[in-house]
Amino acid sequence: MSGGAPLPEPTKEPILSISDLKEAADRKLPSLVREFYNSGSTDQRTIAANSDAFTKYHLRSRVLVNVRGLDTSTTALGRKVRFPVGCAPAGIQGMAHEDGELATARAAGRWGVNMGVSSFASYAVEEVIDAGKGVVETLDSGGMGEVVGSAYAMQLYPMRDRALQERIVKRAEKAGCTAIFLTGDSPVLGVRYNEWRNDFRTPEGIGFPNMERTSRQIRESTHDDGFAKMNDDSAAWTTEIKWLKERTKMKIFVKGVICGEDVRAAIESNADGVIVSNHGGRQLDGVPATIDVLEECAAAAEGKIEVHMDGGVRKGSDIFIAVALGAKCVYVGRPVLWALAYGGQAGVERMLEVFGHQSKLLGSHGSRWCVETPEARKQTIISNLEEATAGLWGMVLRDEHYQDFLWTFIPDFMTGAHQELEYNSNDDIWIYNIYSLKGNHELVRDQKARNSNGEHMRW
Ligand SMILES: Cc1cc2nc3c(=O)[nH]c(=O)nc-3n(C[C@H](O)[C@H](O)[C@H](O)COP(=O)(O)O)c2cc1C
Repeated sequence: MSGGAPLPEPTKEPILSISDLKEAADRKLPSLVREFYNSGSTDQRTIAANSDAFTKYHLRSRVLVNVRGLDTSTTALGRKVRFPVGCAPAGIQGMAHEDGELATARAAGRWGVNMGVSSFASYAVEEVIDAGKGVVETLDSGGMGEVVGSAYAMQLYPMRDRALQERIVKRAEKAGCTAIFLTGDSPVLGVRYNEWRNDFRTPEGIGFPNMERTSRQIRESTHDDGFAKMNDDSAAWTTEIKWLKERTKMKIFVKGVICGEDVRAAIESNADGVIVSNHGGRQLDGVPATIDVLEECAAAAEGKIEVHMDGGVRKGSDIFIAVALGAKCVYVGRPVLWALAYGGQAGVERMLEVFGHQSKLLGSHGSRWCVETPEARKQTIISNLEEATAGLWGMVLRDEHYQDFLWTFIPDFMTGAHQELEYNSNDDIWIYNIYSLKGNHELVRDQKARNSNGEHMRW
């Protein structure tokens, strides 16, 4: 036996990953709720694709990079967040834990990440925000010194009853929401066989207070029928954003976009952002994984509006890949529900701790990472370097030549400089806008360019 320090004790913590959370929740939840939460629509193709698609991307780490003091924080919905993750507006959280969205809000507030509140939340938006703020007040007085607190977005469906829709908007704004997530992917409810087989109805005692519906009223109809009666299937780009903008100052994000055309429609309609989402595979089955369409959507946004995404994010590396492909931040839906089922607020905090730890670990393996995809094609270097100081940023490289070329610029990033990369297709050159802070916070821009043969250009 050799000497030396004793080996660390094996951890007793049962939750080390999001799949651990899922297993714990699956053991706890009754089958009606478990199937409602876990399932996608029809043949379950899109829900499976959402997570699988991440495995196509690989991370290319750098070594001997000083990562001390790594900072994964960024801004989303106009607020600093500890890392680029938020809680998606997933409905009926009261089925997972009696505190439902209140517990989620408390955990999100403590961990300094944002939260979407579903129209079908089991608690009123006012109560949810109070719960989140309450926990933050306690923390602030304790002087945690970390990023705490959340921005809140009210998720909304276009509704037949416009007076009710307006009341929800006004309530959300008054309560402290700063954004609306207008769900555009649900003109009709997705085909969810589990709900039909189980005659899914929201359990007794749980209402939809934001929709002004009591538990008894909801239970009178099936989920499908209730949704069809509420939802305005005539909603269109030409009407919805304008309608909302006339009634609120909150930012309007359109949730459920999966193609560049709709990103451009969002810009033309004066929306403030999009959430690239397929509703976690619960709406139209067969649409692509969100991570596979993110790049197209981010390119269509041209930096004019914020692009967020959700769908299948289960690991720190998934967050990183999404950020690298152009998302400002990502949301997680089912992980929140599993976490709630596992342990209420403490469960959601554990979930955020897992994501936060994994994000930091990634950065600590060489915060300047690249993501490679298997296809080699030109003109696909995408940079997402908006936050010079953020530890989490990435690039997608799909062409060997550009890859090598890009590394020569990496040292600039390490100084905290901020680079933006543009491809000028007319001249077939790559232009680097390199920003650095000089002296008294003066922003200085330097430009470098190379042609597609890798030769330096005058610019
Ligand atoms: C049980 C459940 C309920 C949901 N309810 C809503 C909702 O009311 N409104 C909405 O826009 N999206 C809803 N979503 C979709 C989420 O906001 C999000 O798009 C999706 O869960 C992200 O995928 P993920 O679960 O793989 O993380 C729901 C998702 C789940 C799983």
